[in-house]
Amino acid sequence: MNWRDAVIYQVYLRSFHDADGDGVGDLDGFRAKLDYLVELGVDGIWLNPCYPSPGADHGYDVADYTDVDARYGGLPAFDRLLAAAHERGLAVLMDLVPNHCSAEHAWFKEALAGRGRDRFIFREGRGEEPPNNWRSIFGGPAWTRVDDEWYLHSFDSSQPDFNWRNPAVGAYFDDVLRFWFERGVDGFRIDVAHMLFKHADLPDWPHYPEDNPYAANQPEVHEVIRRWRKIADSYGRTLVGEIWVPTVSDLSLYLRPDELPGAFYFDLLVCPWDAGRFRASIDRGLTEIGTAITWTLANHDVHRTVSRFGLISREGGPDTRPRGVVDVALGVRRARAALLLLLALPGSVYLYQGEEAGLPEVLDLPDAARQDPTWLRSGTADYGRDGCRVPLPWTASGPSFGFSTSSATWLPQPSWFADFAIEDQMARDGSTWRLHRDALRLRSRIDGELEWLETGRADVLAFRRGDTVCVTVFGQEPFPSSEYGTPLLASADAPKGVVAGGSSAWLRSA
Ligand code: GLC
Repeated sequence: MNWRDAVIYQVYLRSFHDADGDGVGDLDGFRAKLDYLVELGVDGIWLNPCYPSPGADHGYDVADYTDVDARYGGLPAFDRLLAAAHERGLAVLMDLVPNHCSAEHAWFKEALAGRGRDRFIFREGRGEEPPNNWRSIFGGPAWTRVDDEWYLHSFDSSQPDFNWRNPAVGAYFDDVLRFWFERGVDGFRIDVAHMLFKHADLPDWPHYPEDNPYAANQPEVHEVIRRWRKIADSYGRTLVGEIWVPTVSDLSLYLRPDELPGAFYFDLLVCPWDAGRFRASIDRGLTEIGTAITWTLANHDVHRTVSRFGLISREGGPDTRPRGVVDVALGVRRARAALLLLLALPGSVYLYQGEEAGLPEVLDLPDAARQDPTWLRSGTADYGRDGCRVPLPWTASGPSFGFSTSSATWLPQPSWFADFAIEDQMARDGSTWRLHRDALRLRSRIDGELEWLETGRADVLAFRRGDTVCVTVFGQEPFPSSEYGTPLLASADAPKGVVAGGSSAWLRSA
């Protein structure tokens, strides 16, 4: 597998496909859809955590790192999935969650019983107050009191942070990597890889937890990454980091030749629909990271692309996910244009499940159904991430739109999901699904360094790679494009010789 330009499809297992009819996706359900992924044309899969877990953060609270949750089918179902994926030439990346575990993990249970607390971050409080003023990323304080001490949790109180200054923690995770590599896993996406170490003094930080410089990005983390790189290399496998650091230069440090082979470039994921901003972001990424770059427009933590680009009036505070009115048609149009732009860039691309159907965020979930811990921990100020995790609509009718044999899905599906049914789109010319498939087929022919072309318009981006030109029109006005070549693929219909407003096209020069 050439990881440098691979396209990886992200499977949020609970919401992908359910074989056993309990309303929660599982590994046999996923396996039944592998041919679907082959038809779509991706190179591999990143599987969100499927370890045994109480599910407070849907798998990001791991109770046992060397097993698979029985509700997903356990290790036998995992082995079946892995073998079936490999038979089809699909790579499988798992999700490593090393910053924290579940409060149900054996080590934390021991810690609660007063043994081995130095595997976690336990401290005495300041009087009746926690050891410092850090906030949890999901809202509320980052400390919870047990007996006469407090433990640190950067996320939910059921996700205690490991103490990475204790070498036993590092040795444990080295073994976890080896365990799965021995089993045949092709690599790992590393959850919040920048957060493992905290500043030794745990100084106060009164601002947003996401920006806390003492809770992340400490120099010691690079040593762990270098060790994991050696382990991955010894098996010929890969690693991709989820790393949120202040600047792209900070990110590039994690991608030094002996560190991670890849890390998500999240800049475009927060970029507004603006040609200048896109160009600056792409340039920054390619200059500072180069071809190790891993592009993405969506994942299980952010609003779906259609709803981000289609949001026409924003509600909610500056520190919550946006709510408001979404023009879905506009969002779909822009998401399709963004896809062609993304897939023409040099580097690897991650696609989140459901994006190939142009699914919007489900903003109208009933409050009682919400499950993301962010919802309650933010005092219901922030809807959280449930809206991008609703089980997929495979068919336009039937119980749960073909997701399960049951209609009681773990998050309720809105009736409008019928309009986005994947199987209908597979059969329909011009659908968003077909655009993904066609682009993935043609993409392997795009090669060479990126060279920007002068378009004479501030709202139009055009670049050449080899004999292919990608044009994206951010504004409404069509753009004459015949000088660049003949059309290969377009995200919206247009008269001959032009690229329509709010769309992208790939053109090939003679
Ligand atoms: C990462 C995951 C997110 C999870 C958090 C804590 O950001 O992508 O889903 O809640 O880490 O593990």
